[in-house]
Amino acid sequence: MEKETVKKEVVKNPEAFNLDILASALKQSLFGKNIVFRDTIGSTNVFLKRLAQEGACEGTMVIADEQSAGLGRLGREWFSKKGENLLFSVLLRPQLLPSKLFVLTMIIALAGIDAVQDITGLNAMIKWPNDIYIGEKKLGGILSEFSVIQGVVQHLVLGMGLNVNWKPEMERTLLYPTSSIFTESHKKVSREEILINLLKRLEGSYYEVGRDMEHTEGFYKKWNEKSLILGKTVVIETGKERIEGEAAGIDRDGALTLITTGGDERKFLCGDVSVKMNLSEEKKF
Ligand code: BTN
Repeated sequence: MEKETVKKEVVKNPEAFNLDILASALKQSLFGKNIVFRDTIGSTNVFLKRLAQEGACEGTMVIADEQSAGLGRLGREWFSKKGENLLFSVLLRPQLLPSKLFVLTMIIALAGIDAVQDITGLNAMIKWPNDIYIGEKKLGGILSEFSVIQGVVQHLVLGMGLNVNWKPEMERTLLYPTSSIFTESHKKVSREEILINLLKRLEGSYYEVGRDMEHTEGFYKKWNEKSLILGKTVVIETGKERIEGEAAGIDRDGALTLITTGGDERKFLCGDVSVKMNLSEEKKF
């Protein structure tokens, strides 16, 4: 009897994350030195923090197609559909005071909106402290976590989730109005292309800022220009209080300055902001 030969066909899934493209484009980059990819992971931030404690080198990056316990800011959950969005974290070891680390959250947010603009033409904005918005809907978010020993920063993990080819309108349980590049542009976009563009920008800005933080002026200017809330009447909720006022600016430590309705100047390092539309309606976005 003749032996049957089974022809094995390798069907490449065009939607699968292409690590080869990424590794080859980042060969010379800080973020190409140690790339860890997982189909599924708990949280890229949690995983990378562990690698950082074990001594992983600066630039190490963890990317996943899916997170089973993705983290958002303020202990919230970060939800994303498998294989459709960008979920990644990068490790930096900057020689900065903890109070100066905000500039690095700022430069990854700027790298994100610039990469989106470059590849899709979409005009994304930054919502203080670290959200990426398109119109009034959330397109992405950044979770920065760092470790300090005796006042010295050991590592900073910058994690970003960016909604790329997802259709969030199909989900019923999202916390806030959410969008994606696909929803906005009606085009599928290469996740690798966006990530490569973003990381090259991030690396350029990281070196430009410098270890001594001498060159941050341009970034603060752009950050303020790209801010969704500046000049608007907002309500900030800190967990302890809820204050209304005009968002007047973001200072060097990342604090939001609010001119309260009573005329006081207050600074906030964290909180949830919503834009006040009129006396009765607040826009939660
Ligand atoms: C937020 O807007 O609340 C921040 C969201 C940050 C989500 C990203 S996804 C990749 C990285 N890993 C996580 O667990 N969280 C960040």
